[in-house]
Amino acid sequence: MGDSTLRIQDNRTGQSYNVPIENGTIRAMDLRQIKTGPEDFGLMTYDPAFTNTSSCRSSITFIDGDRGILRYRGYPIEVLAEKCTFLEVAYLLLFGELPTEPELKNWIGDITHHTMLHESSKKLMDGFHHDAHPMGMLVSSIAALSTIYPESRHIEDPANRLLQIKRLIAKVPSIAAFAYRHSLGFPYVYPDNELNYAENFMNMLWRMMEPKYVANPALARALDILFILHADHEQNCSANTMRSVGSSHADPYLTTAAACSALAGPLHGGANEEVLRMLDEIGSKDNVPAYIKKVKDGHGKLMGFGHRIYKNYDPRAKIIKWTAERVFEVTGRNRKLDIALELERIALEDEYFVKRKLYPNVDFYSGIIYQAMGFKPAIFTVLFAIPRTAGWLAQWQEMLTDPEQKIARPRQVWTGHEVREFVPMEKRVPVAAATK
Ligand SMILES: CC(C)(COP(=O)(O)OP(=O)(O)OC[C@H]1O[C@@H](n2cnc3c(N)ncnc32)[C@H](O)[C@@H]1OP(=O)(O)O)[C@@H](O)C(=O)NCCC(=O)NCCS
Repeated sequence: MGDSTLRIQDNRTGQSYNVPIENGTIRAMDLRQIKTGPEDFGLMTYDPAFTNTSSCRSSITFIDGDRGILRYRGYPIEVLAEKCTFLEVAYLLLFGELPTEPELKNWIGDITHHTMLHESSKKLMDGFHHDAHPMGMLVSSIAALSTIYPESRHIEDPANRLLQIKRLIAKVPSIAAFAYRHSLGFPYVYPDNELNYAENFMNMLWRMMEPKYVANPALARALDILFILHADHEQNCSANTMRSVGSSHADPYLTTAAACSALAGPLHGGANEEVLRMLDEIGSKDNVPAYIKKVKDGHGKLMGFGHRIYKNYDPRAKIIKWTAERVFEVTGRNRKLDIALELERIALEDEYFVKRKLYPNVDFYSGIIYQAMGFKPAIFTVLFAIPRTAGWLAQWQEMLTDPEQKIARPRQVWTGHEVREFVPMEKRVPVAAATK
């Protein structure tokens, strides 16, 4: 094997260059020296949608999409889902190590201490339209925390950052639950400090007249596992948004609201809501082959299938399938599971899906469990945002403390006009005609 460099021959000039290879990458800036002459800006890479560009060094989440591997800080997701609570995993993501017993106790105490919302958050939420989508309410209410905690703008201060991180992890479930209650027209339920993270969230969602809400332990544990599975996922669309917006040094509430907006799209966190719509549209197992044919003919996508990184079974989908069985022991079987299993069976044997390496992703089964637990589809993406807040904040911290990072600012390939002669009003043609 030769040295770790890439030899580039520029056939325009006949010159060659040696560019160092480090961690399987070359630095895009090393290409800038490749010029046709002194006036030339230098070579750039063109990578729409960042399909082959590393934008950072990271030691938080590792994915091997071909082998179906997901690890947080080196620990396999399967082990964490089996042995940890979500708050333990959030600690791991943020601080790099699993907490000791006293560290975990303090961490849980701190998060529990910050779950209350300022009354002005409540008033803000009261103002939303009765049928507002919970994601819109969540994004706006997280952004509004920036006005309640203006000191959060001092992102250079590690202690200040940590305080906002605790507030966000603690308050996002409260905002999420308030958004849900608002959409049902029910009064808000305040947090109960005697309950754990998942139980307290369930309490804020579903407590009615009873003096104390007691969650079914199997369902609370299932929700906690789902939180673990969704806590981080490397440089996806919303994590990239978190890093990009955070790189301008906006405060963590505005930055998290931006990441949350990215999550809302149906190609990202909004997919599980779409999966349920799709299963409703299919209606029964018998209609599955016709639906698959429709997708193959180019009419829509099989929601919950395919992934930019996983070209194998999403390891989270496997754990969710297992968790679904535990949930159905309590709630009874969701008949949509039968349609989903049939879809998966047929798709995994079909050449179209096999050739494109399209496997079920995390969203394929999560919606079915959420529905069995009593969640309405409109809140599914909110359920994704709660744990992902921990991942976003870990990515944000890592970005801010990385000396190589600065404000994110991609380049473009210019495809517009060269400089043009100004056109006076009387000579202009309507845009529609001009583009014909
Ligand atoms: C996740 C997703 C956005 C990844 O997209 P991507 O990496 O850009 O992949 P592409 O869109 O380039 O897909 C490659 C090929 O597979 C097809 N494909 C991808 N996902 C598909 C799906 N869910 N159903 C049917 N065909 C799909 C594309 O049409 C394309 O086919 P072509 O090569 O004939 O043009 C995409 O798979 C998708 O939209 N899935 C459904 C939404 C979803 O479940 N999102 C949650 C992600 S966790």
